[in-house]
Amino acid sequence: MGTLARIAPSILSADFAHLARDLDRISNADFIHVDVMDGHFTGNLTFGPGMVAACKRSTDVPLDVHMMVSNPDETIGWYVEAGADMITVHAEASTHLHRTVTYLKEHGVKAGAVLNPATPVGVLEDILPELDMVLVMSVNPGFGGQRFIEGTYAKLDRLQALCRAVGAHPLIEVDGGISAANIEDVARHGADVFVAGSAVFGSSDPAAEVQRLRSLAQSGIDTAEADAA
Ligand code: DX5
Ligand code: ZN
Repeated sequence: MGTLARIAPSILSADFAHLARDLDRISNADFIHVDVMDGHFTGNLTFGPGMVAACKRSTDVPLDVHMMVSNPDETIGWYVEAGADMITVHAEASTHLHRTVTYLKEHGVKAGAVLNPATPVGVLEDILPELDMVLVMSVNPGFGGQRFIEGTYAKLDRLQALCRAVGAHPLIEVDGGISAANIEDVARHGADVFVAGSAVFGSSDPAAEVQRLRSLAQSGIDTAEADAA
């Protein structure tokens, strides 16, 4: 019992020309989710380490850097230097995931692995005990505002079963298409960190939306924990 719901607004949906203002608007968030895209792993291009460093100077909320790049093992040091608190790399793109996770931990940065919608949870079996977080993509990465893929629920169930089987307890983050309409259901399937871009920044009061999403998610987590007890 006692798992806390955490909300990670994605600045992909912020106004890039008023980023400090938008970061101020979500100062009650648990993480700031920063989507690094290289125009190669994804068909979109966003931020590099300079943006991560600028965010670090602008907010006290921990930075959750989601690397959607083709060569994360080569460039991950840029984001460690820039002040990332947590970095997630795609299992599909990292050739040396164990080495990269070890590197992050040695540098005091929380380490996570990301799975695209078509990647089975089993690829993480051997690394799962080393991970601080698993990020399950509930859309194909690249853009905000996409529709949540319903098969994510069954995938979260499989991930929970795998975590139990290997005795691992990573945070489970879900990214893509999360809103007040589905966050409670997603939480019931074992997620505890929720990325939300368009739902938060599309709201006229982003801080209130963060709070609303967090309480809905918390009630999903509490229901799941009561059912399991
Ligand atoms: C998608 C990104 C997401 C995106 C989510 O590739 O990884 O973090 O910002 O946006 P919404 O919440 O609008 O689906
Ligand atoms: Zn993301």
